[in-house]
Amino acid sequence: MDKQRILISRAIFPEVIDKLAAHFEIEGNQADEPWSQDEFVRRLANKHGVFTTSSERIDSALLGACPDLKICANMAVGYNNFDVPAMTSAKVLGTNAPGVLTETTADFGFTLLMAAARRVSESEHWLRAGKWNRWRYDLFAGSDVHGSTLAILGMGRIGRGIARRGAHGFGMRVIYHNRSRLDSTTEAECKASYVSKEELLRTADHLVLVLPYTSESHHAIGAAELALMKPSATLINIARGGIVDDAALAHALREKRLAAAGLDVFEGEPKVHPELLTLPNVVLTPHIASASVPTRMAMAHLAADNLIGYLLHGKPVTPLNPEVMEWKKS
Ligand code: GLV
Repeated sequence: MDKQRILISRAIFPEVIDKLAAHFEIEGNQADEPWSQDEFVRRLANKHGVFTTSSERIDSALLGACPDLKICANMAVGYNNFDVPAMTSAKVLGTNAPGVLTETTADFGFTLLMAAARRVSESEHWLRAGKWNRWRYDLFAGSDVHGSTLAILGMGRIGRGIARRGAHGFGMRVIYHNRSRLDSTTEAECKASYVSKEELLRTADHLVLVLPYTSESHHAIGAAELALMKPSATLINIARGGIVDDAALAHALREKRLAAAGLDVFEGEPKVHPELLTLPNVVLTPHIASASVPTRMAMAHLAADNLIGYLLHGKPVTPLNPEVMEWKKS
């Protein structure tokens, strides 16, 4: 029997390519060429599966042009690049990569929180510029992390990982807001208390965003929400660009209506709002919260295992729309 055909949209670990090549005919992109959407669709037109990262868009136009497509396997936990209802109508399975990146991403939430609160990037740039010539009582004095109030918006796996770090590691008081409240055992484990979004914003010393990006969470933090926060507070976004109104955030940081921010994701990334680039009180990183070598490897293997599991055995590991499996394509 002929091997099924797979498209791998971006460069990935060679061992993952080898693993997939043992089962499928592969078209890869190890040169990491940027493909336009048209080019992506053209290459995908005769494929049975695709390995995506969070940058490739799977929408109804693409699905209409790819009649053989059965599965899109995202090497990311977030899947706002997938139109899942359109995929379900087209009987195309979507899979994401949950679980394997939780702890690494929670670590990075704390990395940004600490860096922003304690002014790490700002002071390092200043030192590198040769400006350090004497001690000063308030030199880069920031805000405390230990014992402060950690506020988490979105309390999925990563949110809970951040809560545990804050409560158990830094003795923080943890509050959270989420679409649904956690059960009491999980709340106790995370030492986290449920509050309204307004109370969360008003009370936060450090607010960490870890919610999925949907039409409802677009600009969940805009000028009105920022205005409710303490001027001494820190805002951390490791979720998705678009959840924060970056222009409003830049304005609040410039006006010192918010002390500091740490951002790993941006509206329209890899473009970054130009005003953010000029501000000292924001730590900026290029969407690397899950980027430890073992975690990126585990994410790539999970995406590959979803392709192999579904296309060869009808058993994906982490399906998003499992109902598709009921009505398998002929
Ligand atoms: C990264 O942003 C992911 O969704 O895995």
